[in-house]
Amino acid sequence: MSRLLVTGGAGFIGSNFVHYVLDNTEHSVTVLDKLTYAGNLASLEGLPADRFTFVEGDISDAALVDSLFADVDAVVHYAAESHNDNSLDDPRPFLDTNIIGTFTLLEAARKHNVRFHHISTDEVYGDLELDDPNRFTETTPYNPSSPYSSTKAGSDLLVRAWVRSFGVQATISNCSNNYGAYQHVEKFIPRQITNVLRGERPKLYGSGENVRDWIHANDHSSAVLTILDKGVIGETYLIGADGEKNNKEVVEMILVGLGQPADAYDHVVDRPGHDLRYAIDSTRLRTELGWEPQFSDFEAGLADTIAWYRDNESWWAPQKDATEARYKAQGQ
Ligand code: NAD
Ligand code: DAU
Repeated sequence: MSRLLVTGGAGFIGSNFVHYVLDNTEHSVTVLDKLTYAGNLASLEGLPADRFTFVEGDISDAALVDSLFADVDAVVHYAAESHNDNSLDDPRPFLDTNIIGTFTLLEAARKHNVRFHHISTDEVYGDLELDDPNRFTETTPYNPSSPYSSTKAGSDLLVRAWVRSFGVQATISNCSNNYGAYQHVEKFIPRQITNVLRGERPKLYGSGENVRDWIHANDHSSAVLTILDKGVIGETYLIGADGEKNNKEVVEMILVGLGQPADAYDHVVDRPGHDLRYAIDSTRLRTELGWEPQFSDFEAGLADTIAWYRDNESWWAPQKDATEARYKAQGQ
């Protein structure tokens, strides 16, 4: 039984991980989260009080981080500024949290010799042509496109350097696009579901031909636990579930799933520098560590996600108007 510190545990993937760990293991969990616009304590309701603690704070606060690292066996680092559109509007918080925050955690991991797992993204590899037969692997060169993905790439390189130069006990995972419960309404799938639930039309950037490689958040969580348990220190693992779909297909599935005509959406102005396609080859994680995804049917997982947003309007409604006002100001 271990004591885990989870940074960013009040966000989308972090909160799913915390629920997954407390439901499926004997570990105890402390969450460190700044509660930015993306953090939501309502995502952590109903957890067992004897195994769960919440600490509000910034991962760049070295004194706080030092005190928390003194009392745990392992750290799983999810905290980040995570949204590409926001990074195009105001990159600074992405540097502060994704770079300086990760640096602060690595220094504490070095001092306390704590096992550290760094959560990252497939976006560090840039994008692929639609007809490229290759997918991203652990050896694909870094080529990030946006302020968000470049700060995530920078944070990955910091982790690699702290492993090699200081012997920090770290692993890295780069995962594809997640979907599921508790995702902020600024992101593609929740934005479109909640638009339709409110009687608004979904908004597709540009042509809608861009491809994302969708994975259910629970499969991401099981992969991270597998790496924590069996991963080789210093190594990187790509996490993906063979879920490539273009944005137009996903919007059409959402509309049909909510009883609307499949073409009842609008095209809006494209994202500057919009990555065309992401695709993960997760062979290494599957063959070396024995991981397999459980949610192989995207349409079924999407139907569950639609039902979750329909049943949990009180969770997302407080953020919806402000989010749409920001998009409207950008013509999106
Ligand atoms: P999110 O924006 O939903 O959540 C981020 C959380 O981090 C929030 O709770 C926020 O309050 C917290 N946070 C932000 N700055 C902080 C700081 N300085 N100190 C402490 N807490 C802070 O993000 P997400 O989508 O859940 O992504 C989590 C991680 O997973 C990120 O590192 C992201 O790069 C990575 N990732 C996300 C996806 C995806 O599809 N969403 C895919 C692959 C990897
Ligand atoms: O690939 C992993 C990444 O996935 C993570 O690292 C990021 O944290 C996460 O936000 C996500 O990045 P994307 O930019 O791919 O996700 P987003 O939900 O913003 O957009 C998904 C696709 O949908 C993308 O091609 C842009 C498009 N889109 C998005 C929105 C919000 C639209 O067409 N319309 C929209 O309204």
